Amino acid sequence: MKRSWLIGGLVCLLSAGFLTLLLMYSLPLDFIERSPVQPFFFSHKQHAGANGIPCLYCHRYADKSSLAGIPALSDCRSCHLYISPESPRIKILHEHWNRQEPIAWIRVNSLPDHVYFPHMMHIRAGIDCSACHGDVATMERISRTVSLKMGWCLGCHRQHQASIDCWTCHI
Ligand code: HEC
Ligand code: HEC
Ligand code: HEC
Ligand code: HEC
Ligand code: HEC
Repeated sequence: MKRSWLIGGLVCLLSAGFLTLLLMYSLPLDFIERSPVQPFFFSHKQHAGANGIPCLYCHRYADKSSLAGIPALSDCRSCHLYISPESPRIKILHEHWNRQEPIAWIRVNSLPDHVYFPHMMHIRAGIDCSACHGDVATMERISRTVSLKMGWCLGCHRQHQASIDCWTCHI
C-alpha cells in the first residue's frame, strides 16, 4: 500500500478520535436519573439535619477507602431498636431484618468502571462532602447535584493543583 494513504488514514483516524473526545468533553449530556425514588423511605434531612448524625457515622469508610459505604440493616437496627420502634416505617425495617432481607438502595452517584475515584484522598485533602454531593443534610431524598463528567473532575483538580494525568483516574 502507498505510504501517503497510510499516513492520510492515520491522520483521519486521529482527528476523528480527537473530535469525539472534544464532543464528549464539552456536551452537557446527562441522561441518568438524578434523584431516583428509593425502595424504602430514608431522609437525610431527618438523620443528618434535624438529628445531626455525622456523615461518617453511617458512611464510615469515606476517609479510609475508595468507597464511602452505605450502612447495613444492622446499623439501622442498632438505633431503631430504641428510636421510634412503634412507627409503621420502623416496623417494616424490623421485618426486613427478621427476614434478613437487605434494602436494595438505588445508586445515585456512579462512575463508569474505567474511572478510579478514591474518597479517602479527597476527604484527607480537606474537601467537604458538600463540594461534590451538595447540602445533603437538607435533602429529604438524595439528589445528585453535579454532572460527574470528566470536565468536572479536571476543573477542581486544576484549581487545587491536583494531578490531571490521564493515569491518575484511568487505570
Ligand atoms: C443514619 C445514617 C446516615 C447518615 C447520618 C448519613 N447518610 Fe448518607 N446515606 C444513608 C443511606 C441509608 C443511604 C442510601 C439511601 C439513600 O440514597 O437515601 C445514603 C445515601 C447517601 C448518598 C448517595 C449515595 C449514592 O447512591 O450515590 C450520599 C451522597 C450521601 N448519603 C451523603 C451523605 C452525607 C454528605 C451525609 C452527612 C451530611 C450523610 N450522607 C449522612 C445513610 C446515612
Ligand atoms: C444513630 C442513630 C440512627 C441510625 C443509625 C439510623 N437512624 Fe433512623 N432515625 C434516627 C432518629 C433520631 C430519627 C428521628 C426520630 C424522631 O424524630 O421521632 C430517625 C427516624 C427514622 C425514620 C422515620 C420514622 C418515622 O416514624 O417517620 C426512618 C424511616 C428511619 N429513621 C430509617 C432508618 C434507616 C433505614 C436507617 C439505616 C440506613 C436508619 N434509620 C439509621 C436515628 C437513627
Ligand atoms: C471530590 C468529590 C467527592 C467528595 C468530597 C465526596 N464524594 Fe462521595 N462520591 C463522589 C463520587 C464521584 C461518587 C461516585 C463514585 C463511584 O461511582 O465510583 C461518590 C459516591 C458516594 C457514595 C455512594 C457509593 C459509595 O461510595 O459507597 C456515598 C455514600 C458517598 N459518596 C458519600 C460521601 C460522603 C459521606 C462524603 C464526605 C465524607 C463524600 N461522599 C465526599 C464524589 C465525592
Ligand atoms: C472539589 C474538588 C475535586 C473534585 C470535584 C474532584 N477531585 Fe480528585 N482530588 C482533589 C484534590 C484536592 C486531590 C489531591 C489530594 C492530595 O493530593 O492529597 C484529588 C486527588 C485525586 C486522586 C488521587 C491523585 C493522586 O495523586 O494519587 C484521584 C485518583 C482523583 N482525585 C480522582 C478524581 C475523580 C475521578 C474525580 C471526578 C469524578 C475527582 N477526583 C473530582 C479534588 C477534587
Ligand atoms: C481527575 C480525573 C480524570 C482525569 C485526570 C482524566 N479523566 Fe478521563 N474521565 C474521567 C471521568 C470521571 C470520566 C467519565 C465521565 C463520564 O462518564 O461522562 C472520564 C471519561 C473519559 C473518556 C470517555 C470514556 C467513556 O466511556 O465515555 C475518555 C476517552 C477519557 N476519559 C480520556 C482521558 C484522557 C485521554 C485523559 C488525559 C488527558 C483523561 N481522561 C484524564 C476522569 C478523568
